[in-house]
Amino acid sequence: MQRTSGAGQDQAPRPGSGAPDTAALEAVFDAAVAADERIEPRDWMPDAYRRTLVRQMAQHAHSEIIGMQPEANWITRAPSLRRKAILMAKVQDEAGHGLYLYSAAETLGTGRDELLDKLHSGRQKYSSIFNYPTLTWADVGAIGWLVDGAAITNQVPLCRCSYGPYARAMIRICKEESFHQRQGYELLLALSRGTEAQHAMAQDAVNRWWWPSLMMFGPPDDESAHSAQSMAWKIKRHSNDELRQRFVDICVPQAESLGLTLPDPELTWNEERGHYDFGPIDWAEFRQVLAGQGPCNDQRITQRRRAHEEGSWVREAAAAHARKHSGVRTEGEAAA
Ligand code: 3HC
Repeated sequence: MQRTSGAGQDQAPRPGSGAPDTAALEAVFDAAVAADERIEPRDWMPDAYRRTLVRQMAQHAHSEIIGMQPEANWITRAPSLRRKAILMAKVQDEAGHGLYLYSAAETLGTGRDELLDKLHSGRQKYSSIFNYPTLTWADVGAIGWLVDGAAITNQVPLCRCSYGPYARAMIRICKEESFHQRQGYELLLALSRGTEAQHAMAQDAVNRWWWPSLMMFGPPDDESAHSAQSMAWKIKRHSNDELRQRFVDICVPQAESLGLTLPDPELTWNEERGHYDFGPIDWAEFRQVLAGQGPCNDQRITQRRRAHEEGSWVREAAAAHARKHSGVRTEGEAAA
């Protein structure tokens, strides 16, 4: 049986219609996932698979566009033209990532307006990390090194996600995130090797961003509501704790090269496990941030809503332009 259901989307064929039944379609879907094939928009897929993808991709897209705020805060205060140009490019990249991801979510039948509405009304989440303030210029470096570094660790496996449009969007996103991570590392290295005050500023930023970066990977595996099913569907390839451990293992030697210390006295190499042990994460803080009570939750969402309202004329103009070129005119335009 072919995977593409003529019906498209997620409608199960009607019994007796001569079309394959849901169990048969599900078997084809399961076989495709097991064979590591990509599920494409016109393929039949279980409703729950579609919902999970929309949930994760929306949360991811929202994180990209909200993530523009903490760093954009520093564009006007970048210490040189070179740093300003890099930061502007990076913030623009994040907007682009949001667009790829909203477009990928649209292939599942969920429009951007609906997703943005859910973000603005608090019905969908964005990453906890963006609810922390950027207090000094060194925070731009710490975000690049740690936040983008954590994002890459989490997102490289998503390039092999079972859903084709998401996997393909992630390939380009990861290439750009890799540039973001390197610019952050290079910025921190310059500060770390600079004056005593610059070194202290870099260390302070790392101290503040380290633990929230570890929280980006989500709750521990035994509390992760979605991981088991998402891994069975090959949306996620690794568990939250596996990726968190991978990130810690990558960061320890990088911190040494930077001449900076990670703020965890319990960080030690465990010969038996072949990994670094690390101290306990403050999950109460994580839950608080997710509940909307982080240091900047209100500020971020207020700014996002304002930006959306202020951008309404751009959306209207773009829609009018598209209509004009499609030859379809509204009544008002036809009368004018
Ligand atoms: N911040 C906010 N919410 C989080 C979170 C975090 N750090 N970690 C988990 N959650 C939420 C989940 O969304 C889920 O809530 P929901 O049921 O309302 O959707 C709940 O906590 C339970 O967590 P699970 O572990 O069961 O959820 P997932 O299986 O979806 O795993 C995830 C969470 C690892 C974040 C996964 O969704 C994922 O890999 N998402 C794609 C990557 C992504 O969203 N990245 C955002 C990071 S920032 C970024 O990419 C911008 C870049 O420029 C830095």
